[in-house]
Amino acid sequence: MDLFDKLQGRPGPLGKFTSDGYGYYTFPKLEGPLGPEMEFNGKNVIVWSINDYLGIGGRQEVKEYDAEVAEKYGFSAPMGARLMTGNSTKHEELEKELADFVHKPDALLLNYGYQGIMSVIHALVDRNDFLIYDELSHACIVDGKQLAMAEKFVFKHNDIDSFEKQLERAHRRAKPDSSILVVTEGAFGMTGDLGILKEMIALKEKYPFRLLVDDAHGLGTMGEDGSGTGTHLGCQDGIDIYFGTFAKSFALIGAFVATEPRVVEFLKANARSQIFAKSVPMPIVESARKRLELIQKHPEWRERLWENTLKLREGLREIGYNVLPAECPVTPVLTQGSTDLCTLIMRKLREEHGVFVSGVTYPVVPKGTVLIRLIPTAAHTDQHIQKTLAGFNAIKDVVFEAARKQERMTA
Ligand SMILES: Cc1ncc(COP(=O)(O)O)c(C=O)c1O
Repeated sequence: MDLFDKLQGRPGPLGKFTSDGYGYYTFPKLEGPLGPEMEFNGKNVIVWSINDYLGIGGRQEVKEYDAEVAEKYGFSAPMGARLMTGNSTKHEELEKELADFVHKPDALLLNYGYQGIMSVIHALVDRNDFLIYDELSHACIVDGKQLAMAEKFVFKHNDIDSFEKQLERAHRRAKPDSSILVVTEGAFGMTGDLGILKEMIALKEKYPFRLLVDDAHGLGTMGEDGSGTGTHLGCQDGIDIYFGTFAKSFALIGAFVATEPRVVEFLKANARSQIFAKSVPMPIVESARKRLELIQKHPEWRERLWENTLKLREGLREIGYNVLPAECPVTPVLTQGSTDLCTLIMRKLREEHGVFVSGVTYPVVPKGTVLIRLIPTAAHTDQHIQKTLAGFNAIKDVVFEAARKQERMTA
């Protein structure tokens, strides 16, 4: 059978949405300057779907700096991979600054988070090793696991007993030269709960292992200095490899891992997506440095983010919504219902109330449930929050009735 013909009968779990809902539920176009208010389908909407947590991407001084460094360097240089021709002093300075920021001795810049962490996982373990990961890990960890040659064990989400069982299983099967890499997230991006890092780290004494933490959502948002979930939980030292991306709080592109110099040295020679791919362009490197400087200089942006997060959650709960007990700014509202309810909520909020939210249904969440995920930022105002709560209040009867119906169906 022709491969392309076969693909038509194999749309994948998101295929229905990418064809039927194109431009609306998937691939929507949020236009105009980045910020809490943008244009969607020609209408002004309050946006709760972008991870510019600190509101940095829309700041005038940031935009001016971006323009300045774009003018100075252009977007082409340096050409080639870091290993060959794409290195620069600026890249190395950024690495040093990132390492200092997250309280680690060294760091390695990655051109993209997703591919970068996949390669890091792939490079770190061999066929004698064990890779243990949380079942709710982001797709990049799951894909990294697919690449890795190690034997893989998965533990139930944030379940310390399940984690210990897998550790014990790995230790039982280990050969003398076997090692264990554990991968989890600092702040889970869909559910907003934090990885149980402290409890996990405590098990190192009994079952030695190395811990890699993907802190995409914790970098810049968690910890009193913004250095992430490990700092917030008081266990940054126990994280052996810290992964952060610029795709969220930095409102940029690129990522890094921070760890011991000997591991950075190893990854420089073995992380294939970095060795065989073009390095991060100069303006991105300089813009990342600027953002890092601003994040350190302006703790009040993080304070504002948290104020907004708590206000939004409190308001939603007062109306009667089930806001999951998230510990990072990700604000997930869970309700019973079908895919139709999910699209109805998104449509009603967008069309009738000028509020842009994103929702997910099965297979991302269990069948019969709908998760509306709101991402508060430091740039949202009280007015944005009040208008959004008014929208949620106006649609509550429809949502709660659908939830009751779903409950009766599944009872
Ligand atoms: C938890 C998590 N890890 C990794 C990534 C991938 O990072 P990037 O967008 O820099 O490729 C994302 C999404 O951005 C994420 O949410």
